[in-house]
Amino acid sequence: MSSVTPELPPAQASLRASDDGIALRTESLSLWYGTRRALDAVSLAVPARRITALVGPSGSGKSSLLRCLNRLNDEVDGCRVDGRVWIGDTDAYAADTPVHELRRRVGMVFQRPNPFPLSIGDNVAYGLRLHGVRQRRELDERIEAALRTVALWDEVATRLDDSALDLSLGQQQRLVVARALAVEPEILLLDEPASALDPAATLRFEELLRQLAQRRTLLLVTHNMQQAARVADFTAVLHQGRLVEFDDTDALFTNPRQRLTEDFITGRYG
Ligand SMILES: Nc1ncnc2c1ncn2[C@@H]1O[C@H](COP(=O)(O)OP(=O)(O)OP(=O)(O)O)[C@@H](O)[C@H]1O
Ligand SMILES: [Mg+2]
Repeated sequence: MSSVTPELPPAQASLRASDDGIALRTESLSLWYGTRRALDAVSLAVPARRITALVGPSGSGKSSLLRCLNRLNDEVDGCRVDGRVWIGDTDAYAADTPVHELRRRVGMVFQRPNPFPLSIGDNVAYGLRLHGVRQRRELDERIEAALRTVALWDEVATRLDDSALDLSLGQQQRLVVARALAVEPEILLLDEPASALDPAATLRFEELLRQLAQRRTLLLVTHNMQQAARVADFTAVLHQGRLVEFDDTDALFTNPRQRLTEDFITGRYG
């Protein structure tokens, strides 16, 4: 791990001033799969209780970056990480940082809804049980609260014991968000979470993201530029493992400072 503190990109310099406005920060984060470098000295500060979109061409390193933030890359053979990741003031890769607690604080939602082959209720209870919640009443209360947060409670309240696999795709995606939220993460990482949903379900899902961001920090990978423009407060652009630009979403889309950003958001490549 290097201990240097590289400069943040210019648009982010002001964020450094108020550290409590930053939920997570990477410092010169690089990542290799074997000898192939997938991230190249990425220094990114993600504002707290906002939605930051992470965009860039296929293969630019978006998923790799997300997987560094809660150390899911630890599970990938041949993967090596250099640089630092700060979750609040926790050094994510420090030897004494407990990974299971890190993953409680930094939840993840993937592209395809992946409910466990369990009942609806047990899906939401899964992480709670893992973190030691045993009392039936507390489990029930927290299952209900998480399902209400994602606006699924009214649809499933009478069928909590039914298999989660029988839900529609849109319901399954809200269920896995509820499963992630049940353990009360500060940060939610979402890797193209709406790509399996139809347009109406996508818009409802985006409304949910806006609502979640009132209390949590969201980092959202999306291939959909309209989606980034609709929901994200800030947008970061990756290209070949490098952070090309980070800015307020409106500024980035109306007045990109980098040619690569302009080419990408106007669809000239990617
Ligand atoms: N487990 C892995 N082993 C080896 N190489 C990998 C692995 N995962 C990703 N890569 C490589 O790392 C680079 C970045 O991949 P990554 O999945 O992070 O890109 P991405 O921006 O998420 O792309 P997409 O938009 O297609 O999802 C690519 O060259 C990819 O082939
Ligand atoms: Mg990806």
